[in-house]
Amino acid sequence: MPYATAMASGREDGAFDVDLRLRAHADEVPIFSGPASEVWRYTAERIAGPADTLTALGESYPGPLIRLRRGQRLRVELRNELPEDTTVHWHGLHVPSEVDGQPRLPIAPGARQEIAFDVRDRAGLYWYHPHPHGPRGGRVGFQAYAGLAGPLMITDEQEQALELPAGEQEFVLLLQDRSFTRDNQLQYIGDGMGSMMTRMRGFRGNRMLVNGRPDARRDVATQPYRLRILNGSNARIYKLAWSDGRPVTVIGTDGGLLAAPEQRAFVTLAPAQRTDLWVDFGGAKPGDSVRLVSEAYEMSGMGGGMMGGGMMGSQRESLVTFRITSPETDPRGLPERLAEDLPAPSIRPDTPVRRFTLGMRMMRGFTINGRQMNGTNVADDEIVTLGDTEIWEFVNDTMMPHPMHVHGLQFHVHERIAEGSRTELHDGLIDAGLHDTVLVFPGERVRLAMTFEHFTGLYMYHCHNMEHEDAGMMRYFRVDPSRISA
Ligand code: C2O
Ligand code: CU
Repeated sequence: MPYATAMASGREDGAFDVDLRLRAHADEVPIFSGPASEVWRYTAERIAGPADTLTALGESYPGPLIRLRRGQRLRVELRNELPEDTTVHWHGLHVPSEVDGQPRLPIAPGARQEIAFDVRDRAGLYWYHPHPHGPRGGRVGFQAYAGLAGPLMITDEQEQALELPAGEQEFVLLLQDRSFTRDNQLQYIGDGMGSMMTRMRGFRGNRMLVNGRPDARRDVATQPYRLRILNGSNARIYKLAWSDGRPVTVIGTDGGLLAAPEQRAFVTLAPAQRTDLWVDFGGAKPGDSVRLVSEAYEMSGMGGGMMGGGMMGSQRESLVTFRITSPETDPRGLPERLAEDLPAPSIRPDTPVRRFTLGMRMMRGFTINGRQMNGTNVADDEIVTLGDTEIWEFVNDTMMPHPMHVHGLQFHVHERIAEGSRTELHDGLIDAGLHDTVLVFPGERVRLAMTFEHFTGLYMYHCHNMEHEDAGMMRYFRVDPSRISA
């Protein structure tokens, strides 16, 4: 059995604070009334660790919420009970290359893999999902769509000291869109005329599911809540807003809490991104309800035609109805200052810029610097040095937005050079704080500041529109040891 353990852990094998078993398997779950839906899902079992390590998200397919504390040492035995290869990627976590769930280390059907790593990341919401990619392309879109995805939350002392809403005043909301047949079975990309366009645009379903269920409702009291939201959709971008027009208060992003809250009329959330919202239902009366919605939007600047606004934009969708059922007073307001531990990017005028141009090849999908995924191949311009800080510039030369993800680290969005291509969705971007996925709009250049710390070896960067990554808009990069030797 391949045993990949965390380097530089400083601890003997065996001393694990949390020990889990995670199975990927087929199942049937109730989603609508009538026949149950066939899905693929993660099921976890706690061998050791605190009692609150695993929490079910409800009665459906999503994987359980895994709660970790910074500083814990985690071991997971992964079991593949699916009829095809899979991997488990810890999206957003700073972990060694061998435990990052990359396609180069697949788990065969019936096989197991043990992984271990130290929890080094800031308090925040991360997630886990499959990452298989074979010679004929990726299966991320298919496997995640079938149900394989779950949230992972890290907490630490700094976060706890803020006394943000917790327990019954905190909800984890996994947003996904799906399409179903009349007998409640999941429908993915079919064959035929439409499928080509769907692969180019990315799959979008016509039913909004929250934690794997339609028509989500939550009963709340007249007090503040914290909403931990993950866009686990294959390709859909959400324009998150409140139905009563109140502003959206954002306290955190992919990599944890912001230094201070930010308010927007709406928040733009691309696939794989997370947003941490604070909301006070204190002004409402029992009997009222407020809905979290995704507002309609147009995607202009797309060149019109088949790829134009109509196909890329979205209608208004209702996501969660919050029903105010009871009076409650919680005197805690929103703190003016949040994270004290948010590192500043160490950018200097001579920080090197590495440019990646996102392109399109007619009928062949999307490219990064003219290339597509090609095994573990790494080009000369895809090698970085341990300890270095760089600016990565993504230049979008296509007519579609691309949510670009870099494995193994959190970056700062340093600069967004819109070059006249500003869209309405720009008003909902939160570029402060730390991120692992950034939305790059058509015609735009986005500069990210990132540092390669602790781990050498292969990592990945790609578009997190799952149909795009599966079609090859994904590459490995390599972190080499420092050239300076004693
Ligand atoms: Cu969330 Cu490489 O992926
Ligand atoms: Cu893309």
